[in-house]
Amino acid sequence: MHRRQFHRFTFLLLGLTFILGGCAFDGPQSIFDTVGPVAEGQAEIFMLTFWFGVGVFAVVTLTLLYTVWRYRRGDEEGLPEQIHGVAWLEVVWTLAPVVILIIVGIATVRLIFAQEASSPEEDALKVTVTAYQWWWAFEYPELGIVTANELRIPVGRKVQLELHTADVIHSFWVPRLAGKVDNIPNQTNRMWLLADEPGVYRGQCAEYCGVAHAYMRFQVVAEPEDGFNNWVASFQDASGTQTAQADPLILEGRQLFSQKGCAGCHAVQGVSQNRVGPSLTSFGLRRTVGAGIMENTPENLARWISDPHEVKPGNYMPDLFAEGDPQADEEVAALVAYLQNLGDTTQRAAKAERPRVHDRDLRP
Ligand code: CUA
Repeated sequence: MHRRQFHRFTFLLLGLTFILGGCAFDGPQSIFDTVGPVAEGQAEIFMLTFWFGVGVFAVVTLTLLYTVWRYRRGDEEGLPEQIHGVAWLEVVWTLAPVVILIIVGIATVRLIFAQEASSPEEDALKVTVTAYQWWWAFEYPELGIVTANELRIPVGRKVQLELHTADVIHSFWVPRLAGKVDNIPNQTNRMWLLADEPGVYRGQCAEYCGVAHAYMRFQVVAEPEDGFNNWVASFQDASGTQTAQADPLILEGRQLFSQKGCAGCHAVQGVSQNRVGPSLTSFGLRRTVGAGIMENTPENLARWISDPHEVKPGNYMPDLFAEGDPQADEEVAALVAYLQNLGDTTQRAAKAERPRVHDRDLRP
């Protein structure tokens, strides 16, 4: 092998290693590690198409290699025998793709009708999803709940989603639960999903939407019906539990929340209704900060409040503290205490019991 060929070969191998390194069947956003009928049906269609593709690739490649080898130039001089077409062969390679396309087509159309989302069902949970640069609002119109970046759903119940956007085109995608559907300005798109196992499923905006697109994440938390109902009850009652805090640091944080202007953008039930930024009602129950990018711990939250742009470049939250502000540390601590204590105490205790967010699920 020549030196140059060797270099090319090494380069190719390295490239393949990097590309194939992205392949995993059990990653947190794997479309093969399916949960629930929507993702399962879609993965089946994918595999059906994939295996037909593998078959066609193998037949074409093998035939090509065989032909090149079998009819390579021999010792004889002149042109080989000239022919014009082989009828039976042409019929085969015309009919085979037709048959394959009919099979794939029937399977796909059946699935599209089966997963049709335009006819809402009586007992489905309805959620309106609004995409913002770069976070998600989840509204449960029948339950009077508005939350953000964490979609709570009951296990085993159909969830009917209505997709909107407040600005540009985004795409709602929870790979393990369902294929992506776009959020398009001035248009309502619909989809449904169903988680038949409890768990936390990672979601991601799947349409490039600006500088923080890669950090526009969310989580779907599927709980048994009881747990979901407890969350709903505590959330609806959140204004009560959120004001009954006696700790002076929490009270200071609560004051700062208005003074520093947080309340001008963020809703907290009983304090503010604004919807410019993510709702923070019952924020203490949430698993992540910054639209799914960091675990919701006091340290991470302090980092976020002190300098949101260091954590998530491009996001629209203003800097609350000037560089070298002598009050900053104390005020951040107060805000963190206030926010971490939002939400029902028993629910927060239950959250502490649950497994922590996996590092592999998040990347700061
Ligand atoms: Cu929103 Cu990408």
